Amino acid sequence: MKPKSVKTYAPATISNLGPGFDTLGVAINAPGDTVVARRRSEPGLGFSVVTTNAGVPLDIKKNVASYVSTLLINEKHPSFGVEMILHKSMPVGSGLGSSAASSVAAAVATNALLVKPFSKADLLPFILEGERLACGSAHADNAAPCLLGGGCLIRSYDPLDVVPFPIDSSLVWIVVHPDTEVLTKGARTILPEQIPLRSAIRQWANVAGLVMGLAEGNRDLIRRCVEDVVAEPLRAKLIPGFDDVKKAALAAGALGCSISGSGPSVFAIASSMARARLIGAAMTKTFRLAANIQSTGYVSRTNVIGARIVWRRGS
Ligand code: HSE
Repeated sequence: MKPKSVKTYAPATISNLGPGFDTLGVAINAPGDTVVARRRSEPGLGFSVVTTNAGVPLDIKKNVASYVSTLLINEKHPSFGVEMILHKSMPVGSGLGSSAASSVAAAVATNALLVKPFSKADLLPFILEGERLACGSAHADNAAPCLLGGGCLIRSYDPLDVVPFPIDSSLVWIVVHPDTEVLTKGARTILPEQIPLRSAIRQWANVAGLVMGLAEGNRDLIRRCVEDVVAEPLRAKLIPGFDDVKKAALAAGALGCSISGSGPSVFAIASSMARARLIGAAMTKTFRLAANIQSTGYVSRTNVIGARIVWRRGS
């Protein structure tokens, strides 16, 4: 029997992972966004947002969750409508895949109510339209791991080709979100249209090496490959204290450290949970000392499930 109401959770993601601009991403366990949706007799979508975060669009046409849900409803024309509440706990403009998490939670919830639902992977093109609405670009390096879990390589955008890859279970992710905002749209416009061939060679070698290093848990290889010669040098300027925070993470034993997505969050990789906690503490301390900025740290193993249904009810 199809559920009449459903609650979904979609996790934060770290995208780019250093060298993999728009091509690499990984899901972590928290933070994340939650959606509660139920069938209603009135057709179309009813939408509301519960949040304490400033800057979350409340308008049904402007919020990515309602936008993506409407796309799905318009595609399937169900005989019922959907009433949806987005519990928006992730900060906007954080570099944690906040817009992707809202879109994914909404898509998975709406889909679960449908009589003939899409497969999880077939939801991705709808979710990417949410990313386009949020920042003008339908990049998939947050949306794919958020939906599918684990590590994802976006091998191609045309046609879309998402390649999940394994990440050694001993590795631990640290992501520290400073209390400042960087909007993805702006952080993309400062990047060059073209890059020198020598930068491209270095970058794609690092992407290949990083995927291999993460899959094998090869610490030395990871250390060498979390290097971004394209976006980080330009985007670092948007993050107060970035250089000091990165130095502190590496000094505390991080295998690598770079900008999470388009920032301002900064991620690092550790070889154990205990080491990850030390690295996270060093990073938050350095944001405070170097830039006088408060930050929130998250430590997580790879989330291999991605978006999930928390509960479903028949009535
Ligand atoms: N790959 C995207 C970017 C991620 O770096 O702009 C945005 O979160």
